[in-house]
Amino acid sequence: MPEVTPTLRWIGTARDGYLRMIDQTRLPVELIEIDCRTVEDVWEAIKSLRVRGAPAIGVTAAYGVVVGLQTLPGDVDRADLDSRLEEVCTDLASSRPTAVNLFWSLERMRQTAMNAADLNATMMHERLLVEARRIETEDREMCSAIGRHGAELLNDGQGVLTHCNAGALATAGDGTALSVIFAAAAQGRSLHVYADETRPLLQGARLTTWELRQRNIPVTLICDSMAGWVMQEGKIDAVITGADRIAADGDVCNKIGTYSVALLAKAHNIPFYVAAPSSTFDLSLDSGTEIPIEQRAAEEITEGFGRTTAPTGIEVYNPAFDVTPAKYVSAIVTERGVIQPVNRETVTAMLAPTAKSQAVP
Ligand code: MRU
Repeated sequence: MPEVTPTLRWIGTARDGYLRMIDQTRLPVELIEIDCRTVEDVWEAIKSLRVRGAPAIGVTAAYGVVVGLQTLPGDVDRADLDSRLEEVCTDLASSRPTAVNLFWSLERMRQTAMNAADLNATMMHERLLVEARRIETEDREMCSAIGRHGAELLNDGQGVLTHCNAGALATAGDGTALSVIFAAAAQGRSLHVYADETRPLLQGARLTTWELRQRNIPVTLICDSMAGWVMQEGKIDAVITGADRIAADGDVCNKIGTYSVALLAKAHNIPFYVAAPSSTFDLSLDSGTEIPIEQRAAEEITEGFGRTTAPTGIEVYNPAFDVTPAKYVSAIVTERGVIQPVNRETVTAMLAPTAKSQAVP
């Protein structure tokens, strides 16, 4: 396998380090890394999808906290650090609303500070870098475990459809949905992936195909509107996607278009799998209807990638995510095991009591 550039990595100490990440808006044309040295850089990188995918956003936000505290003088009081910490967390939490990993990770950073009230400001700053590194390492481990648990769902010779990008670019590890595919391939199963291009920002076309090619997994790119026909032609044996937030009843929020794919899979009697770590579950939400859906700029649809494709001033609706009801989800692969069937009882049994249940926006 060719050497893979990490999606993100911390370089240096808590005091003067920075977050280096692949700028995913430039892929697949060029592989460029950018450095985030201020909380504004981190906020902008999340908002404009230079870094994206629920777990990667969570890890980025944790490092964003460390970066955000660097504006304080070296001899600052602990109380001033705590109030800056709150300011930075509130700021980062406003970058994107849907992926719960962002809020989960910021809450972990807050809790870390609260649990170490005796540390002075310098030691606390260093402790927060340790915690951010821990979140990154755990995410990598969760990806591997998801791959191990999910691989058994895919059989030799199958065609597998995926939507958006739930690969290494979306996490600190090998991904969630793609980790399952990588693990099955590593176990010797030959799979053929069909990647939905994923309008309007083309994460499937730009990122998923790029990643699969790097790993020598056969992949065919299709437009989102082709998924039903490709299923009808018998090319798809299973669908697997990631998730941005999963409610207590098993409803799954993921990239816009996922719901349509799930309905198509149901109509063709094809299993629809979701792969996600426990940090993507939000047990404080009773059902998927409570999940906040990010609304993005009209220009993503009317002027995507610099070309005008609709009349100027046309009314546009651009929700970035949708919710697939649990009844259409055949199984959810987590790092703890496979939830199947998917309902409130099975989700609770797998996730409680250690899942977070904090209120988030
Ligand atoms: O808008 P994006 O690119 O951040 O959306 C990403 C997705 O919808 C992914 O499928 C999801 O975050 C899971 S990533 C492992």
